[in-house]
Amino acid sequence: CGIVGYVGARDSVPLLVEGLHRLEYRGYDSAGIAVLDDAGLQVVKTAGRVADLRRIMPAGLAATSGIAHTRWATHGEPSDRNAHPHLDEKRRIAVVHNGVLENFDQLRAQLTDDGVRLSSDTDSEVLAHLIARAEAPTLEDAVRAALRQVEGTYGIIVLDADRPGELVAARRGSPIVLGVGDREMLVASDIAALVRFTQQVIYLDDDELATVTADGYRTSTLDAQTTTKSPTAIDVPSAEYELGEHPDFMYKEMLDQRDAVDRCLRGRLDRRFMSARLDGIGLSPREYQQIRRVKLLGCGSAYYAAQVGAGMIEELARIPADAEPASEFRYRNPVVDPDTLYVAISQSGETLDTLGAVHELKRKGGRVIGLVNVVSSSIARECGSGIFLHAGSEVSVAATKSFTNMGVTLALLALELGRVRDLSITQGRRLVEGLDALPALVGEILGAEQRIAAVAARYANVANMFFIGRVRGWPVAREGAQKLKEISYVHAEAYQASELKHGPLALINPQMPTVAIVPDDELLAKNISTIEEIKARGGPVIAVTDADLPAGLATDVIQVPRAHPDLAPITLSLPLQLFAYHLAKSLGRDIDRPRNLAKSVTVE
Ligand code: G6P
Repeated sequence: CGIVGYVGARDSVPLLVEGLHRLEYRGYDSAGIAVLDDAGLQVVKTAGRVADLRRIMPAGLAATSGIAHTRWATHGEPSDRNAHPHLDEKRRIAVVHNGVLENFDQLRAQLTDDGVRLSSDTDSEVLAHLIARAEAPTLEDAVRAALRQVEGTYGIIVLDADRPGELVAARRGSPIVLGVGDREMLVASDIAALVRFTQQVIYLDDDELATVTADGYRTSTLDAQTTTKSPTAIDVPSAEYELGEHPDFMYKEMLDQRDAVDRCLRGRLDRRFMSARLDGIGLSPREYQQIRRVKLLGCGSAYYAAQVGAGMIEELARIPADAEPASEFRYRNPVVDPDTLYVAISQSGETLDTLGAVHELKRKGGRVIGLVNVVSSSIARECGSGIFLHAGSEVSVAATKSFTNMGVTLALLALELGRVRDLSITQGRRLVEGLDALPALVGEILGAEQRIAAVAARYANVANMFFIGRVRGWPVAREGAQKLKEISYVHAEAYQASELKHGPLALINPQMPTVAIVPDDELLAKNISTIEEIKARGGPVIAVTDADLPAGLATDVIQVPRAHPDLAPITLSLPLQLFAYHLAKSLGRDIDRPRNLAKSVTVE
């Protein structure tokens, strides 16, 4: 979900709607706004998109303070009544909420017993009633009293009809950022909503509250201790959140990958020792040597990138390394070992499952670093050390440049871990040269878009697809299948190429195409025989390869220029993004707003 609030001298309505528009990648099941004018709280909300909200907005609605929300449903179906803001019965308090209240059943029952009529199925609505019923001298105290009764996570903004010109915000587990303007203040869940208006921001910490007026802000803890915070400047050009001439953000972000890789590598290649310079990790060569295992954690595409990284680390540094979904790790009481380096990978730095894994690791004394794109995010701050991805803002729900830069940073980490062990200077040089050449290769692959689009168009009518790969190709196949599922809704299943014959081969027929990832490595011959086996059963094969395949082997070939073999998972993933994109486009899908998904999932 995304939330935004405004207080100042201007009309808040267009600012809030604009803010929601920027936050829509965080959820788009429903949208709503509450503003305070002379007649009291005015609320407009609807199931659907921000565009739908815009359509039903009454002409002439204007007010100098307000709050707004775009929702990704957790409790209660997307509907008008479940859309935020939520109000108390007297329509005095309006609340927008991100997160999940775990004890909401109990709180709803208590409120109902007290005679309160609830008007939605959401967990969030209880907050409005609790705040309205708290007897407290200030809105901030009322919010504090309400929050003491809730368990779970929240990022909230509250508007009180009896206190015009003031907003109260609070966070636990869901980000809140204050934007400082000229005699005006904004509050949001994400800087995307603020960058057009101000570059001066303050991030709230967990269990912190803020009272915000046009003239400034005051922050304190849930225990009413005052905290002192000064604004910091964000260095994000607002153009990063504009489409410009591009049809959608996914397209814009795919095309940005050459520059993104370049940014990620800048200053990080050590050409003297043929190693990597990763100052943000803060480990000495000796500490690097003491690492006995590496465990990489992430969700979604970040998990597949983790798997790419585990392969690179084992191969280049010969340290046992494995990847696990952060969501699984945090719930299975993992053995946390002091000689293991834990790596939390996340574009947004706000994915709750990954943040939960970091908390669990820290509680058990694990050493955890972050590979994060958003510099000021919760995971980056919680880890305190790591490698920033420098991919630039990523708005598209489907990850593209963040995945690529995860691969690049993991290659750098593998190089550094390798060079303090057995990786020779010659092998180090080869990888440094491979990384040096990478931005140009990325540019070249993206330049072949039209050929990939033509292949994608030929498969637009299929119902199912396999993606297969071995070792280096396996996480590539998983990410490729994920990309296709997410944005085209075509069912795609990833399989290890070698496992195909142990079951799924039964599904191969002329209607079931297979995308085969074929790196030019020591497993080339094995991959060729797998393709032969599929062909023998009449299955069409699209080979994505940087090898020279025998003519006529595959039905379609997407040829990629050859990279250093350990970087092939990065280069071979790029055509799969374009493939999914063009296939989804030919089906007329809404690329940036795939159904049921959101860019960053800050709930469990
Ligand atoms: C969501 C998104 C995915 C993303 C995952 C992890 O599920 O839809 O595209 O890969 O979260 O996000 P993160 O920000 O932690 O990389």
